Amino acid sequence: MTERLVIIQPDDWHLHLRDGAALASVAPFTARRFRRAVVMPNLRPPVTNTEQALAYRQRILDALPRDTSFDPLMTLYLTDNTSPKVISEAAACEHVVGVKLYPAGATTNSDFGVTRLDKTEPALEQMAALGMPLLVHGEVTDKTDVFEREKRFIDSVLAPLAQRHPQLKIVLEHITTSDAVAFVNTGRPGLAATVTPQHLLMNRNDLFAGGVRPHHFCLPVLKHERHREAVMEAATSGSARFFLGTDSAPHARSSKETACGCAGIFSAHAGIELYAEAFEQAGRLEQLQKFASENGPDFYGLPRNTDTITLVREPWQVPVSYPFLDNDPLVPLRSGETISWRLENPRHD
Ligand code: DOR
Ligand code: ZN
Repeated sequence: MTERLVIIQPDDWHLHLRDGAALASVAPFTARRFRRAVVMPNLRPPVTNTEQALAYRQRILDALPRDTSFDPLMTLYLTDNTSPKVISEAAACEHVVGVKLYPAGATTNSDFGVTRLDKTEPALEQMAALGMPLLVHGEVTDKTDVFEREKRFIDSVLAPLAQRHPQLKIVLEHITTSDAVAFVNTGRPGLAATVTPQHLLMNRNDLFAGGVRPHHFCLPVLKHERHREAVMEAATSGSARFFLGTDSAPHARSSKETACGCAGIFSAHAGIELYAEAFEQAGRLEQLQKFASENGPDFYGLPRNTDTITLVREPWQVPVSYPFLDNDPLVPLRSGETISWRLENPRHD
């Protein structure tokens, strides 16, 4: 049995860092593990141009020690009004790596999102021309059954969009179904997907294990076991089209443990360790480096990292909560439970 695993330092290709005090409390968890992270733009108000993205990037760096080697990769939030000029400015900036499509109303802070896809055509054309990837929250926002929204989105929105823009690089974020796996596996070049730890390690039973479990609620929601198996198979297969994106999405306890709780699971405290556990479960630990450290930079056309990290098989107990906002802590994934892999000598950023 493998007891120690040395891999190239990973990157997180889908992350929510928030802003202000929340940002300061969560950013170090990611910076200790990952060299880079693609930072989602769904702040209030959202990050919609390069100037805002660079200001946000600076706030992230200011929340970390001065000598941090962490490199936040920024994204813009696509709206009905995003102009080709906004796209060219973003493409010319080395710190902006993608543009995020949130269908309006699909998830947390998506109310400024796209209401009519046809309005975004000029921006999408410009992105395709300049090699700027489109990062997609892939769920329809109509009355479709919540467990069917990803499939419906792929069939009715994403497949036609990918065909209309054959040169556009597309990342289908946080995939949850065998339908998404099939779409990415069999689709044209330039399609890829991120996979979260929760969608590898849990299925929809975990939403109701012993009672309703608000800390297991995220969007897209956990799915049937057969979908989890398909996503696990894809992530651990060695295919270059799947890579790590935690979608770590912190919300204070009071907004999770309430009558109408927010979507989002915080996993940055164990952002690589949880994947080691998942890959071990699948008997594919040897594929972790490809998924966590190679496929992402290759897709984005960025260099792979040169440092390494060491994971050891040594169970550790996750704190019940971490400090977050004043008197309103953060409940992490596996709160009070154990994780079977530990990061050796994490950077103390
Ligand atoms: O569960 C989620 N939380 N899904 C998303 O798409 C957004 C995220 C958040 O920002 O909290
Ligand atoms: Zn997300």
